[in-house]
Amino acid sequence: MKKDTKISNAVIKRLPRYRRYLKELQKKGVDKISSNEFSSLIGYTASQIRQDLNNFGGFGQQGYGYNVEGLYNEISAILGLDKEYKMIIVGAGNLGQAIANYTYYYKAGFVVCGIFDINPRLIGLKINDIEVMDYENIVEYVEENQINIGIICTTKDSAQEVADKLCFAGVSGLWNFAPVDLEVPDHVAIENVHLSDSLHSLAYHMNRNTTENI
Ligand code: NAI
Repeated sequence: MKKDTKISNAVIKRLPRYRRYLKELQKKGVDKISSNEFSSLIGYTASQIRQDLNNFGGFGQQGYGYNVEGLYNEISAILGLDKEYKMIIVGAGNLGQAIANYTYYYKAGFVVCGIFDINPRLIGLKINDIEVMDYENIVEYVEENQINIGIICTTKDSAQEVADKLCFAGVSGLWNFAPVDLEVPDHVAIENVHLSDSLHSLAYHMNRNTTENI
């Protein structure tokens, strides 16, 4: 990767899509792909793809295109997906339980180690073989188990207090589903997920009759 260059968030957000398509190509036994073929497959222009990948040093070869496996591995490493992450879910309500039950994460190197809640009726319940633990003990758990990521699925009002506790305990990333902007120290990465944003974007494209991939 080029040193001292700040990569735009728009580029980072396109990388998982590149990776997904490269995985599909690998499954079909495709070894190499030209930038034009990759462009028509993925829906970005060839120049956009080149520009994006140039941020990290290129990876394509003139007259050859891209080596599918090589590029997949490079993008995985750029995204940090060549490691394993230990996560906990805070809030074992509808959303927390759905995330705990979605086993894709386990295959992709994101391991849900624990689930926490304040509700005594939920504490002790098993979700996907993981017992819901008392939120009281969250700091010790994060420290002892060296948890990397906290997934915030609590009510909006509790989210900042939960984030503060998780940051204090030592997580380096927060995946926040609560509909509130959280303040976190600079060394902690935060990604906010709002399904409704995606739905609103869909409504926009339906009403403008556009089909652009976002
Ligand atoms: P829910 O009410 O079913 O679950 C919330 C859980 O958080 C409850 O079990 C509650 O006891 C627990 N909780 C509250 N304060 C806590 C604390 N300090 N520590 C530990 N646990 C605590 O709500 P649901 O439907 O699961 O939604 C959870 C959050 O996700 C809400 O903030 C909701 O607005 C948000 N949400 C976001 C979506 C998105 O696209 N980002 C989609 C759906 C929900």
